[in-house]
Amino acid sequence: MTDLPQTMFAAILKHNGYSGTATGPAIENAADWLEGAEVPTPEPGPGQVLIRLRAASVNPSDLHFIKGEYGQPRVKGSPAGFEGCGDVVAAGKGAEALQGQRVAFVAAGSGAWAEYVVTQMQMCIPLRPDISDDDGAAQIVNPMTAMAMVDMAKADGDAFVVSAATSQLGKLMCSLGRDLGLKPIALVRRAETAEMLKDLGAAEVLVTTDEGIVAKFADLSAQLKPRVFLDAVTDQLSEQLFCAMPNRARWISYGKLSTEAPSLTQTGQLIFMGKRIEGFWLTSWMMSTPPADQMRVVAEVQARFADGRWKTDVSEHLTLRNLVPNLADALKKSDGKVIITP
Ligand SMILES: NC(=O)c1ccc[n+]([C@@H]2O[C@H](COP(=O)([O-])OP(=O)(O)OC[C@H]3O[C@@H](n4cnc5c(N)ncnc54)[C@H](OP(=O)(O)O)[C@@H]3O)[C@@H](O)[C@H]2O)c1
Repeated sequence: MTDLPQTMFAAILKHNGYSGTATGPAIENAADWLEGAEVPTPEPGPGQVLIRLRAASVNPSDLHFIKGEYGQPRVKGSPAGFEGCGDVVAAGKGAEALQGQRVAFVAAGSGAWAEYVVTQMQMCIPLRPDISDDDGAAQIVNPMTAMAMVDMAKADGDAFVVSAATSQLGKLMCSLGRDLGLKPIALVRRAETAEMLKDLGAAEVLVTTDEGIVAKFADLSAQLKPRVFLDAVTDQLSEQLFCAMPNRARWISYGKLSTEAPSLTQTGQLIFMGKRIEGFWLTSWMMSTPPADQMRVVAEVQARFADGRWKTDVSEHLTLRNLVPNLADALKKSDGKVIITP
């Protein structure tokens, strides 16, 4: 660590713990939650690595987290950010094998929105040279989730439903579904995105703001019989669509883009139709899936990015130093990820 700086620039959390609110991932001003600061460069412990950041992504989970609305508490003064890519510049005992490698990582020691990041070596994936830093910065959270969830859908029939299909994850799932011979039914809230999703692989696109959306969905559902609903919105419309799905359907909530808390209006759906409501969290999937299976998923993810079947749409690049004043405006663009560079 002698040739590394003692301090680094980072976007750090302004608050501790949970907020007790449920306001969704939208932010008006990042300065409500974050500030730019010079902080001590973290040091890797046993089994950990220190990564010099190349690029980090901004995911909805980061926004839920900085607002104190995610599944883990904030620590005031720590850098924010869950995911990125960079070069391993120091390694703790047992992690020396990663020294010098360019890796994609999930931050599990200190946050990714910083010049240097500490994480467990198990949270790092060495990157193929043909993967760009932008793709490397969004290589784990959404792609692994897409692979895991489409796998679940595939085990349950031909057609499956994807909400917020214009999200990065939604697009990955539509194209993966098509490649696997499945029929993704994409739900979007902006009609103008329908053609783009069809080109990507959606078999059908329904616009959730259309009048008669529930009836339209019910007709399609009777025809294609989707049994899995991969839902990032989880609002009352989701519940209505779930009720319109065939027997044995599964509503798998994996995101909370809407702030509306849905009510269950027809318990008979669960009792008599054998339907289920479930959750999916990548963290739990990683803890319960054998390493060999995860490695197969990682290899397929990298292959898909390397040959262009998948790509990360980037709406804006921000540097760490101009992140806090500009993040809220950058997030208003609906067409891709905000990527942070040092
Ligand atoms: N459970 C897990 O393990 C896991 C893992 C990864 C991601 N996720 C979740 O997956 C979701 C998508 O993540 P991402 O990174 O792909 O997102 P993203 O690329 O940032 O896209 C989010 C998109 O969702 C749409 N949207 C936002 N609010 C909405 C609302 N209230 N109703 C309908 N659509 C809305 C917007 O597109 P338009 O403006 O075009 O509508 C927005 O661009 C998030 O909820 C995230 O938390 C969960």
